[in-house]
Amino acid sequence: MEDAPEVVRLEIEGTVHEFRVIVGSQGEKAIDISSLRDSTGYITLDDSYANTGSCQSGITYIDGEKGILRYRGYPIEKLAAEKTSFVETAWLVMFGSLPDTAERQWFTELLMENAALHHDMDQHFYAFPANGHPMAILSSMINALSTHSRPRVHDRESYIIAAARLMAKVRTIAAAAYKSSIGEPLIYPRSDLKYVANLLHMMFSVPYKNYEASKEVSRALNLFFMLHADHEQNCSTSTVRMVASSQANMYTACSAGVAALWGPLHGGANVAVVQMLSDIRKNDLSVGDYIKKEKNKEDGVKLMGFGHRVYKQFDPRAKILKGAADQLLTSMHITDPTLDIARELEQAALADDYFIERKLYPNVDFYSGVILRAVGIPLNMFTVMFSIGRVPGWIANWKEVHDNPAQRIYRPRQIYTGAVEQQWLPRNDRPPSLPDMWD
Ligand code: CMC
Repeated sequence: MEDAPEVVRLEIEGTVHEFRVIVGSQGEKAIDISSLRDSTGYITLDDSYANTGSCQSGITYIDGEKGILRYRGYPIEKLAAEKTSFVETAWLVMFGSLPDTAERQWFTELLMENAALHHDMDQHFYAFPANGHPMAILSSMINALSTHSRPRVHDRESYIIAAARLMAKVRTIAAAAYKSSIGEPLIYPRSDLKYVANLLHMMFSVPYKNYEASKEVSRALNLFFMLHADHEQNCSTSTVRMVASSQANMYTACSAGVAALWGPLHGGANVAVVQMLSDIRKNDLSVGDYIKKEKNKEDGVKLMGFGHRVYKQFDPRAKILKGAADQLLTSMHITDPTLDIARELEQAALADDYFIERKLYPNVDFYSGVILRAVGIPLNMFTVMFSIGRVPGWIANWKEVHDNPAQRIYRPRQIYTGAVEQQWLPRNDRPPSLPDMWD
């Protein structure tokens, strides 16, 4: 494909070595260095993997320069415009193409049949401390599912059933994590509700009163989940693949994905954005002063919800979410001052040389919190909502690793910078090991 050589040459210590060039279906080029160490004795060093392709994958395509995101070839703008539901998107991401009517019906039934947790599992929720963070509970409980049964994926049907089981149970666990964090009794799923409405029912119904999600709320959350369904080799997905490469089961790998997602540089950013916006509002800070603080890197302050390793352009998800936030607030007759601050911050940052030079644009987390707030999701559940949305992507990536006959365990190397070989001394002859400790 266009101007990619078949091999590249690298000269090391006077010897020229050839490496194969791999070209993706969209023309992305990579140098296959898998034989580098054997042939040269060198390894590549790429701390934080900014230049490392860790796998070949057929699930999601991103062009960070052009701001393109496609699931299995479908642009997210098209999926959003056609109001493709989260369940359909999940099917697309996990199984490769959009479901027809019968497939959609079957999957909906599977999600319903698998929604309840085994009674033994319910008991765990009462053992977590009150106010336990729902992300910790979610990760623990997804892993705990493997104490009951570990999915065996050996053909197409068993994969679909395992995927439905995990998606269904993650939703129930997420709602139960919330209920247990506020000390309310767990609510069972209903067989007449769709995926999103059922989640909201389990989160917000109480034994004496049913919560009914409005159409606007269900639609907004469907869109939120759809836009989070996959994002190629981000931190949590790479974690899932890493765990999968040891042949660990799907539940365990996804529970590790939740743990990786929690941090504020990744999925936890949707919480950090709302905290930042509320902070600006509460302390009556000017947007200009806040931006100045970020540019001076005061106290490690960053503009949360801005910047991305891959996008050097608008994150296409952020564009859609900004429009959706506007629409939702208008239709619900809500005025949220944090949306105004977000808009003001965005404008100021996009006009500022610091952000322009570094190509920092709003990412998916910048506007998603406004939507979650409007539909009544509590702040400590924001990253849990991201997790629910990302489960299909984790499952699909787990499956790619599981299915690859040439898959080896993920095992990066390192350049060691510690002490060289030391002489062992008896305890009484050793110098103090922590000389500064008593200063
Ligand atoms: N605010 C201010 N400066 C920033 C920001 C920001 N949000 N993001 C990057 N920079 C600066 C950074 O300090 C560096 O400056 P310099 O060249 O002077 O050292 C330059 O831009 C390049 O940044 P980087 O740290 O090399 O970028 P990265 O690719 O390692 O990190 C990131 C990407 C998303 C972690 C980072 O942009 C960030 O911390 N953003 C805020 C947190 C956030 O919104 N995370 C959500 C990411 S999208 C959804 C997801 O992955 O879950």
